[in-house]
Parts: sequence; C-alpha cells; structure tokens
Amino acid sequence: MSLKLSPQSMKRIKEVMTHYPNKQAALLPILHIVQEEKGYVPAEMEADIAEAVEVPVVKVREVITFYTLFNRQPVGKYHVQMCRTISCTLCGHRELLKYVKEKLGIEAGQTTADGKYTLSVVECLAACEMAPAMQINEKYYGNLTPQRIDEILTGLK
Ligand code: FES
Repeated sequence: MSLKLSPQSMKRIKEVMTHYPNKQAALLPILHIVQEEKGYVPAEMEADIAEAVEVPVVKVREVITFYTLFNRQPVGKYHVQMCRTISCTLCGHRELLKYVKEKLGIEAGQTTADGKYTLSVVECLAACEMAPAMQINEKYYGNLTPQRIDEILTGLK
C-alpha cells in the first residue's frame, strides 16, 4: 500500500481493513482517515486509495463526489455547510445564506483569507426536522435565524 500518510493513519487503515470481508468495503472508513489527516481527500491520492482497496479510480471519485462530507479541496478551520434542500429552502435558507455570505465576506465555495471559514451549500443534511439547518465540521445546528447564526459563529471563536 503506497498511501502518503502518517504512520498513525497507516496503522489505522491496516487495522480497519481487518474489519471487513473484502478490501472494497473499507473504502469509506479509509476516506474518513485520509480526510482527518489532510482536511480533505486530495485528488492525487485517489489512485493510491483505489489500489489499496482494489477498485477502479472512478469508483473512489464517485464515492468522494456523492458524499458531501468529503472535501475535495482544502477547507478552513470551520467548514460551514448550509443545506439548500426543500425543507430548509422553505424555512428561509436563501435569506440565511445571503446573511452568512455577507457576514463572512465570501461566496459559497470560498474560504476566508485568514483560513478560518469555508462556506459550502449542500443537499439535505438529514436534519429536516430542525430546518433551516447547517453543519459546521462535525456538529449540526438547526432552527437557524440570523441571531442564532451570530451566536453560533461567535461561540466558535
Ligand atoms: S432539507 Fe435541509 S436538512 Fe433536510
């Protein structure tokens, strides 16, 4: 296996591979480990990951692009992902997105100059019951209002 990762991550990958009946089944956990170390899944690692789990490179790319939780580019310290699917849109997503863009001074898909925030617009976060919702790193936030967003972002500092 020729993945360019730390010895700790390689140890975790080898261990994870023992949990599954075939190497292909370890693809998702391996992608998580790569992202934990790098902050994203670099395109130049796709071929090595594919080789490690014995699937075509296109399969790795399909999985990375299907799940919005995998970043294809480096992201800021806080990755703000705002849901734009129907429940959130009906509950004010567009106005909140505009608010966050103005507050952070960036467009969706961009990172602030200080590397602190990346803003993304994503499909349903499976948190529709608390729409409008967003995810920042691993944590979910719902019933958003401009005031609540201010509190959340202030709490991150
Ligand atoms: S529609 Fe936004 S979380 Fe489901």
